[in-house]
Amino acid sequence: MAYNMKKTVLVSGGAGFIGSHVTVELAQAGYDVVIADNMSNCDETNYKGVCAILGKEMPFVKMDFCDTEAVDALFAKYRFDALIHFAAFKAVGESVDDPLKYYTNNLGSFLNILAAARKSGTHVLFSSSATVYGEPEKKPVTEQSPRQPATSPYGNTKQMCEDFLRDCVKAYGMHGIALRYFNPIGAHPSALIGELPRGIPNNLVPFITQTAIGKRECLRIFGNDYPTEDGTCLRDYIDIVDLARAHVCAVTRMVEDKMDEPYEIFNIGTGRPVSVLELVTAFEKVNNLKLNYVFAPRRAGDVMAIWADPGLAERKLGWKATRTVPETLAAAWAWEKHLQELGL
Ligand code: UD1
Repeated sequence: MAYNMKKTVLVSGGAGFIGSHVTVELAQAGYDVVIADNMSNCDETNYKGVCAILGKEMPFVKMDFCDTEAVDALFAKYRFDALIHFAAFKAVGESVDDPLKYYTNNLGSFLNILAAARKSGTHVLFSSSATVYGEPEKKPVTEQSPRQPATSPYGNTKQMCEDFLRDCVKAYGMHGIALRYFNPIGAHPSALIGELPRGIPNNLVPFITQTAIGKRECLRIFGNDYPTEDGTCLRDYIDIVDLARAHVCAVTRMVEDKMDEPYEIFNIGTGRPVSVLELVTAFEKVNNLKLNYVFAPRRAGDVMAIWADPGLAERKLGWKATRTVPETLAAAWAWEKHLQELGL
C-alpha cells in the first residue's frame, strides 16, 4: 500500500526572518511544513516569498501561541512529527522597558507548545541564543561554557525556555534540541525573503543596508575603544541559509531517533570572529559602495567579544557553515534592494 512517508514539521513564527528561511530549507529537504504565526511583528512579505521560492502555497495558520484553545485546535488538526518554535519577541531594549510583555508572550507561548508537544509526542526544537553565555571568559564558547545571568528579560526568556524544555524532556520522556544561534545575518540568495525590521533596526546588518539605501542617514558604530584589534566588538556572524540548514539537520536527528541524549544543545556559528569594522568594510567592498558611518559611544549591555566553537554541531549534526561573509553581505544588500522595489 502506498502511503505518505513524509514527516510534518510545525514552524511557529514561520513568517519571520529565521522561520521563513527554515521553512524553505525544510520543504526543500522533503518535509511537509505548516507555518503558524500571529503576524504581530511582520507582514506577508516573507510568507509570499517562501511560497514563491517553493512554487506552492504553503499551509498557513494565523494564530497566537498564547491562546491555549488555538494551540489545541492546531494540534487536533495536524499530526506533527516535530516542531520548531520561533514565535517570540526579540528586541532586547524593549524587553528591559516592558519585561511583562516579554515574560507573558515568550514564556506563555512556549508553555502552551510544550503541553501540546507532550500530549502529541512531538519533538521540540527551541531557538535559543548565544546571549545565554553573556560576556564569556574563554573563547570560542562551547556548549559547556557556563551560562551567565541574563542582562535583559529577553535573554532571561531564552534561558528559561531552555530550562523548561530540559525539565519537560526529563520528566515526560520527550525529545528536544536547543540551538544557540550566534549572529544570524543575510538573506536568501533569491532575495525573496530576508530580515524586515519594524521601525529603526537594532541589529547591525539591517542598519547597514538601510543606511546604504538611504533609509537611514548614518550608521553609528557603538564603541571603538574595546580591547580588540581595531577597537570594535567581535561577533560570529552566521549566514541565515546556513543557520536554516542546521535546523533541518536537527529535526532529522530527532525524527530519525539519532539523538545521543533526549535533550541536546548545539552552538550554531562559524567559529570565526569578525569585528564590526571588518563587517562594514566587507560590506562596502563586496557591494562596491561607500557607507556613511561614525564612531559612537559603546551601547549599554553589549558584550565585547563572542564567537562559537561549532565543533559539536559538525560532529553530531553533520552541519557546518559554508557561506562566506562577503556572500552573505551581498545577499543582504540584494534583499534591501528588493524591498525598495516593493516600496517597503
Ligand atoms: C543582539 C542581542 C542578542 C540577540 C540578537 C538578535 C544584545 C546584548 N544581544 O546581539 O541577544 O539574540 O541581537 O539578533 O543585545 N552595532 C553597531 N551599530 C548598530 C547596531 C549594532 O555598532 O547600529 C554593533 C553592536 O554594538 C555589536 C554588533 O554591532 O557589537 C552586533 O550587534 P547586533 O546586531 O545588535 O547583535 P548583538 O548585540 O550581538
